[in-house]
Amino acid sequence: MFKKFKVVLKSISDERGSLIVLDRYENLTFDLKRAYYIYGTQKNITRGFHAHRKLTQLAICLNGSVKLMLDDGFHKENFLLTKKDEALMVAPLIWHEMYDFSKDCILLVLANDYYKESDYIRDYNKFLSLANPQNS
Ligand code: TYD
Repeated sequence: MFKKFKVVLKSISDERGSLIVLDRYENLTFDLKRAYYIYGTQKNITRGFHAHRKLTQLAICLNGSVKLMLDDGFHKENFLLTKKDEALMVAPLIWHEMYDFSKDCILLVLANDYYKESDYIRDYNKFLSLANPQNS
C-alpha cells in the first residue's frame, strides 16, 4: 500500500560510473528547502519515531543500507533502502522509524520545509488520533 512512496531515480551510467539526477520536474515533486544526512549510526540504534504534520521528505540511502518502517495509522510497511537510485517518500502524517543501519550507512533526506519542532508529532497516540480521528 506504500508502494507508491518508492521513487526510482534517473541514473545515467557509462564506463566512467554513474550519475543520479533529482529535479523538480521529474522526480522531486516538492520544492526543496532543506537537506540533511544521517551517518555514523551505531549498532542497534533506532531513529525517527515521529510523524510530521505538514512536512514531506524524500529519503535516499547514499551508502550502505537502512530499513524504514512507515505507518499511516492503519497499515505498517517495512522498506529496505540500499539502492542509490531509489528514494522513499515520507509524506505528512506518516509515522516513521529507521533501524538496522549498516555501519557505513549515509542516509540523505530532502525536505520541503525548514526544521520546525512544532511540525513534529512525537507521541504515537497523538499521531493515531490525527491519522485516524475515529481513534480518538
Ligand atoms: P530528529 O528529527 O529528532 O532525528 P531522528 O528522527 O533521526 O531521530 O532530530 C535530531 C535532532 O536534530 C533534534 O534535536 C533536532 C535536530 N535537527 C535540527 O536541528 N535540524 C534538522 O533539520 C533536523 C532534521 C534535526
